[in-house]
Amino acid sequence: MPGIAVVGTQWGDEGKGKVTDLLSDDMHMVVRFQGGNNAGHTIVYDHHTLKLHLIPSGILYPHILPVIGNGVIINPEVLLEEIANLEAMNIDTARMRISYNCHVILPYHIEIDRLMEERRGGKSLGTTMRGIGPTYSDRSARTGIRMQEMLVPAIFAARVREVVEKKNELITCFYGGTPLDADAVAEAYEGYAERLKGYLADTGLLVKNALNDGGNVLFEGAQGLMLDLDHGTYPFVTSSNTVAGAACAGAGVGPKDIDEIIGVTKAYVTRVGSGPFPTEQDNEIGNHMQEVGGEFGTTTGRKRRCGWFDMVILKYASRLNSLTSLAITKLDVLSGFETLKVCVSYQAGEKVIEEFPQLRGEFEECKPVYTELPGWQSDISDARRLDELPVEARDYLQFIQEMGGVAIKLVSVGPARHQTIIVEGDGEPLRQGRLLFQDDLPL
Ligand code: IMP
Repeated sequence: MPGIAVVGTQWGDEGKGKVTDLLSDDMHMVVRFQGGNNAGHTIVYDHHTLKLHLIPSGILYPHILPVIGNGVIINPEVLLEEIANLEAMNIDTARMRISYNCHVILPYHIEIDRLMEERRGGKSLGTTMRGIGPTYSDRSARTGIRMQEMLVPAIFAARVREVVEKKNELITCFYGGTPLDADAVAEAYEGYAERLKGYLADTGLLVKNALNDGGNVLFEGAQGLMLDLDHGTYPFVTSSNTVAGAACAGAGVGPKDIDEIIGVTKAYVTRVGSGPFPTEQDNEIGNHMQEVGGEFGTTTGRKRRCGWFDMVILKYASRLNSLTSLAITKLDVLSGFETLKVCVSYQAGEKVIEEFPQLRGEFEECKPVYTELPGWQSDISDARRLDELPVEARDYLQFIQEMGGVAIKLVSVGPARHQTIIVEGDGEPLRQGRLLFQDDLPL
């Protein structure tokens, strides 16, 4: 299993961090391939609570080389803060490598993100305000600044000053905002360059060499399919591709370098920010999921919107990512519901929709068609094997596996590393449940 991608199958926050962490023992390298400090996870390590937005959590394991691939955009101030926090915990960060080709987030990107959101008024996207869209826009427009320019900090500073001056025209003339102090920004960024230039490398080559040497490389995705720039709920998406295919472009390897693709799927669905969400439960059901699941964004602290599991989205995720297995997270949060609803298709007017609609208007009209499954009342957070789960929980998993057409290999029943069920084989043990499907042989 040399190349493994871990991707989110919903709107992000599926629990990719825990799955990545569980796989760490066998990995030699962990590579982030898209997004920026809009993503993040909280890690409890050695009695410290640590928030990481940019650095792969593999940094905590000395045997892992953490890599930030070219598809990631970097706010140097945030990165240096993470480095400082890790070093304060005696974790060596010197081995980390950052691609020469990552684009740099500058203060004007953050300011423009804010001004654009303000202009959208009631139609705002609910971005994380981290400058993500404007930085990726500059990358596409070929006006961005890359990390490699930091190699000579004085030249980098001059370039930053020049660009800030140009962007100030946009900020003041178009948005009516306050100009940034170009000298102060240039000076700060010169300092960041001094401290970061030693981390830069041809990371695509490092990844390929690791794979050629028989190493195991984990490609760590951020956000999730429904926030993918092309395939998600545009315009309520992030500004990068979040699908597994993006791991190649964003890490600098070819499609054949990825052998397994694990789709991380929460046992219910959450979304932060604006945009359509057919199975949303803006009621006591959603509130319960939000409270029990601790559904607050790691990056912005915003409450996440919560809703029932959506099979149309899972099937879409399976198709677009070529998923080879599923990791189901937060199953324990569903304990206590009398019944659980699973959206199996959508209805728009008279039309029944089985495949995720590509027309925005149609998706916005979609109402979920639910199947109701029995819930379970007991606490399942101590279960370590499938047969320690109540039959209703196994049925729920089996339903997801059968309809999604992807084998469940891992079930998480709590935040701790040990609160995990590893499913052996091709999901076969799930068949101990009660539900029978068309193709099933009675057991
Ligand atoms: P941006 O990525 O900051 O431009 O935000 C665009 C949309 O993606 C907003 O709805 C954000 O809430 C959402 N988003 C971005 N990153 C994450 C994430 O890591 N988890 C969940 N939602 C995210």
